[in-house]
Amino acid sequence: MKILVTGGTGYIGSHTVVELLNSGYEVVVIDNLYNSKIEVVDKIKKITKKDFTFYKGDVCDKELLEEIFNKHKIDATIHFAGYKAVGESVEKPLMYYRNNIVSTLSLCETMSKHNVKNIVFSSSATVYGIPEILPIIEKLEIKHATNPYGETKIVNEKILKDLHISDNKWNVALLRYFNPIGAHPSGLIGENPNDIPNNLMPYIVKVATGELKELSVYGNDYDTPDGTGVRDYIHVVDLAKAHIKAIEWTFKNEGIDAFNIGTGHGYSVLEIVKAFEKVNKVKVPYKIAPRRKGDVASCYANSNYAKEKLDWTSTYEIDDMVKDAYNFAIKN
Ligand code: WQD
Repeated sequence: MKILVTGGTGYIGSHTVVELLNSGYEVVVIDNLYNSKIEVVDKIKKITKKDFTFYKGDVCDKELLEEIFNKHKIDATIHFAGYKAVGESVEKPLMYYRNNIVSTLSLCETMSKHNVKNIVFSSSATVYGIPEILPIIEKLEIKHATNPYGETKIVNEKILKDLHISDNKWNVALLRYFNPIGAHPSGLIGENPNDIPNNLMPYIVKVATGELKELSVYGNDYDTPDGTGVRDYIHVVDLAKAHIKAIEWTFKNEGIDAFNIGTGHGYSVLEIVKAFEKVNKVKVPYKIAPRRKGDVASCYANSNYAKEKLDWTSTYEIDDMVKDAYNFAIKN
């Protein structure tokens, strides 16, 4: 079975390619390296001791997609490729809508032409907007996100739903990720943002390695146990493994469905900092700063549906996540 992975050298994409190869799938990757590095290709091969095909290119380039589908018998796709910085999406909405939606349209048009109708889509918990109930369940009505990035995920989910309605041979798994952190235990691949990180874990890592001075904790006056923001952090390898289960599910021809991919547990910012310091025996200096615009107090998943339908549950604990995140940083 051959799987086309768009964005396959990115943070979640690369970990998923490792799990696909380890599970015996053949893999073709297309990535424009906008937010990843070409060295990841060899690192994936080193981890798995397996080969795969890599195309440097843009998923919006339909000629390249046509070349790939003509050259390879693709059985299903996993679509990661897209811009994903919440703050940047507020500043540059047109760039986000164009890239994140045109890439999905180009991929689906080419898949349709080649009669490939199984897709796993990289969605996000951000589609829930400000959660009305916790833990979050998939049946919650999707109204709107709190930023253009999240809106592109909502639009892409709608495109895929309408595609299935137009042709029920389409099998679509919408995976709504919560907060992916950590890295492959080998330390060869992980999250390595080029500039100042927006997300909590890569920021903590850069403070722990001395690259940044201190962490700003965005608010300690939320309605949470210690006043700081609560999120559902999930190990990126657990998240990657969910994609293998989702690919298998699409071949059961059950149509389209959405799945929360989280651990079901919420951890606060200060709990993450304390776990990081304890496990890695390193200090993470921080100061309390004003709340960040657009943040919600708490967000965590009810992940029972993924267990029931995909036979997937998370296995790594928070200590594994903070250990692997730091291990990747000191090795790179
Ligand atoms: C986590 C917590 C912050 C940085 C975002 C996207 C979401 C998904 C994951 C793509 C919050 C606090 C953070 C810092 C802090 N991305 N924090 N100091 O905002 O939950 O989710 O990333 O799919 O779509 O919205 O993740 O890591 O930015 O924040 O105190 O320097 O850490 O306030 O409580 P978030 P995050």
